[in-house]
Amino acid sequence: MKITDKFGRPLQDLRISVTDRCNFRCTYCMPKEIFGRDYPFLPKDHLLTFEEIERLAKAFVKLGVKKIRLTGGEPLLRRNLPDLIRKLSAISGLEDVGLTTNATLLEKMAWDLKAAGLKRINVSLDALDNTLFQSINDSGISTERVLKGIDKALDVGLQVKVNMVVKKGMNEQEVIPMARFFKDKGVTLRYIEFMDVGKTNEWDFSKVVTKKHILNELSQHFELGSVDPNHFGEVAKRYRYKGTDTEVGFITSVSESFCSTCTRARIAADGKLYTCLFAAKGFDFKELLRSGVNDVEVEQQIIAIWNKREDRYSDERTEESAKNKDRIEMSYIGG
Ligand code: GTP
Ligand code: 5AD
Ligand code: SF4
Ligand code: SF4
Repeated sequence: MKITDKFGRPLQDLRISVTDRCNFRCTYCMPKEIFGRDYPFLPKDHLLTFEEIERLAKAFVKLGVKKIRLTGGEPLLRRNLPDLIRKLSAISGLEDVGLTTNATLLEKMAWDLKAAGLKRINVSLDALDNTLFQSINDSGISTERVLKGIDKALDVGLQVKVNMVVKKGMNEQEVIPMARFFKDKGVTLRYIEFMDVGKTNEWDFSKVVTKKHILNELSQHFELGSVDPNHFGEVAKRYRYKGTDTEVGFITSVSESFCSTCTRARIAADGKLYTCLFAAKGFDFKELLRSGVNDVEVEQQIIAIWNKREDRYSDERTEESAKNKDRIEMSYIGG
């Protein structure tokens, strides 16, 4: 069954956050001053169990979801994550299960993840220079550890893409070194425009490095050709280095918003469903599931929410709306 929202956008992708905790404290995502020792992370019994996630995922797949992506915080911190991947991979009709991770636990876990049925991972890495990387992640973890995680993932046969958030004054000098390094490795790198998610990252337009700017810089070093989207609703704008199979991409939430084709729903670790990354309110599926409803009632609730959906935050973004403090955090909703 296919369901659509108020603007005719189908429900196709589901992002599920499995924990709001992370072992990094990236300055633009979980600044230490706020996400310190006393930060009220979700207690264990407020997290959806794997059985609850599986049940919800099945309902979403029935309603048209083809792709599920697990996120966090850092999803590999969730105990026994391969067990969840095994459950999700077995859902018939689901075409793709992916994971977005900071890769610090990948060396240890890549094999188990692959064996559980995972096909693809997206790794966050904002710099190759170790001193800079450590100042961004603010947790003492080295680039070497992340790169080892990536190599291990490639070794076991996972498809890997790398995400780099580019923020003015933080890491623009890494744009070309990152391109060169991952081009040589044959790994897709995507540059992400710094977004105004959450209420703690002190975003403003002047800190955004746009696709146009980066593409211009890349063009001075490499020959690139644009690549057509793989499917409706693809997030990244893709390019290929001439004479290679290697791609580079851009996620342009700020300079070229992509709300008109946004097919994504998001479930936070506590079971709340959000229909936009920039939403303030979600619907509590944990409560619904624990109240003893049947599967049809779960599906009806999803349909009702999706049919009413009108989100197009990035299309309408202004300096003013970006200052709105009534908004969920990136580490809670998983990007
Ligand atoms: P693929 O399936 O590999 O294309 O994954 P993806 O790019 O959709 O997921 P990933 O977790 O790697 O996200 C990359 C960046 O895109 C992150 O910064 C996300 O927050 C951002 N992103 C993903 N979906 C959306 C969206 O619907 N809206 C906005 N504004 N940003 C998004
Ligand atoms: N803007 C853009 N991307 C962000 N991410 C985290 N915070 C932001 C932000 N404010 C990225 C992470 C990860 C992905 C899920 O989202 O680096 O790659
Ligand atoms: Fe950094 Fe991702 Fe952790 Fe946020 S969730 S602190 S971006 S590693
Ligand atoms: Fe989708 Fe909201 Fe992102 Fe627009 S801003 S693409 S509606 S998640």
